[in-house]
Amino acid sequence: MPREITRGIHWIYEPGPDRTESWDLDDRNPGWYEPGEEAYVPQCAYLVDGGEETLLFDTLSPASTDQILEVVDDLVGDRGLDYLAVSHPDVPHAGNTLAILEEHPETTLVAPAYGNDHELYHLDDGVHVEEGDELDLGTRTVKFHEAIFLDSPVSVWMTETETGTLFPVDWMGFIHLDDERLTFVDELDGEFDRSRLVEFHGRVLFWYQYIDVPKTNAEIDALIEKFDPEIVAPAHGLVIRKDATEYMALMKEVTRELDSQERIGTLG
Ligand SMILES: [Fe+2]
Repeated sequence: MPREITRGIHWIYEPGPDRTESWDLDDRNPGWYEPGEEAYVPQCAYLVDGGEETLLFDTLSPASTDQILEVVDDLVGDRGLDYLAVSHPDVPHAGNTLAILEEHPETTLVAPAYGNDHELYHLDDGVHVEEGDELDLGTRTVKFHEAIFLDSPVSVWMTETETGTLFPVDWMGFIHLDDERLTFVDELDGEFDRSRLVEFHGRVLFWYQYIDVPKTNAEIDALIEKFDPEIVAPAHGLVIRKDATEYMALMKEVTRELDSQERIGTLG
């Protein structure tokens, strides 16, 4: 089931596999973990409904084809899906592109203008968007941006300008417990443990361990200033709808921590 974050923006969630064993959680028992519980690094897609037009950002993985088709149908109904925007050609993000386009021949495919490897998922057939391109959906407007922290050269980020929502795709992902599915970060028990972010970025955006810390953290400050979002909606974490910029600033500590240690492991 999807969850509405704010009027017209819907969070569509897929848990992916349980990471308890591959992340060795029972033995390590990190602060945020509850022994015996399952833990997930989700895939998230977001549907933006501007009243006049609708847009889906990312597609979930092929394990959830039926789910994404059903949820899109429920949310857009007879109005149809106007746009499918794909952040980058990676299975958890783009894996249902063809299934969605087949089911929705009315939909315009929107793909990143960046990079040059668009054949996968037929992204070469889409409308290509880059920094500053906008789509007016009625009461909601989405704007596309160059992806600053990314895992494929063919990538694009998105914002929704009326609600101040930033969709940073693979950046700001983190693990959560089974009973925290579709929970907003402000609804979690206790203080948010930044090691959740450290483990995700250390395993998934693994080039993080080779970065120049001052340069990367200056880039994070620039992102905070540029976007100043009210809401952060990551592809692999829970939605942050309070103190969003404080969580972006927390990413500077994540950078420092990753720089100071060996590679944590793989996504598994
Ligand atoms: Fe991803």
